[in-house]
Amino acid sequence: MGIEETARALEKLGFGEIYLTKSGKKGGARRKGKMEDRRKLLQEHFNSFKDCTKCDLHRNRTQVVFGDGNPYSPVVFVGEAPGEDEDRQGRPFVGRAGKYLNKKIEEVLGLKREEVYITNVCKCRPPGNRKPTPAEIGACFPYLKKELEIIKPKVICCLGATAGEGILGKKLSITKVRGQTMPYPYDPKILVLLTYHPAYILRNPRADTEFVEDLEKLRELISG
Ligand code: URA
Repeated sequence: MGIEETARALEKLGFGEIYLTKSGKKGGARRKGKMEDRRKLLQEHFNSFKDCTKCDLHRNRTQVVFGDGNPYSPVVFVGEAPGEDEDRQGRPFVGRAGKYLNKKIEEVLGLKREEVYITNVCKCRPPGNRKPTPAEIGACFPYLKKELEIIKPKVICCLGATAGEGILGKKLSITKVRGQTMPYPYDPKILVLLTYHPAYILRNPRADTEFVEDLEKLRELISG
């Protein structure tokens, strides 16, 4: 097992900080080398933009909604932007769409929500839950990019066209590209998997079958 998988396995068992030890000199003295603490790095990153005013979304937000979950997760789910519930509670995907997403993560991936990492392309709620504009996504993207640099997932699973467009930097028709994978432009070792947004499936229940297919593909990608 490589160091990344070991860290992820330990994190799953509830270890927050992992220390790598090497047998040292005489008397069993041990040299301690601390493995990168992604929770701390994320906290520092979030603190750096909690008062962001780069776009007008700051005017109506209750708070910036950061990503949450396991920073050693092999997958990062990326949604569009916080809605009303998320803006109030300060966590992504806590409303109806989030409950559906959690259920599918458990059923298909066999993982609890806390075992994966969930975030958005836009960290502030657009008024009336409208789609974020390209300018708003552009202003927020450096924050997501840095978040992904810290987590280094195997797969970025984009929930809906807005997330896919933000991550890949090009226009998409999600019904055409769902189920497909492409390299993440800023780190081609990371795969981007495109699928539907959970809120779309709640409005179009027949899309559930395809969403499950996409999550099954994701399960294969992260288990390999
Ligand atoms: N929809 C999103 O895209 N993100 C959330 O956090 C909640 C709903």
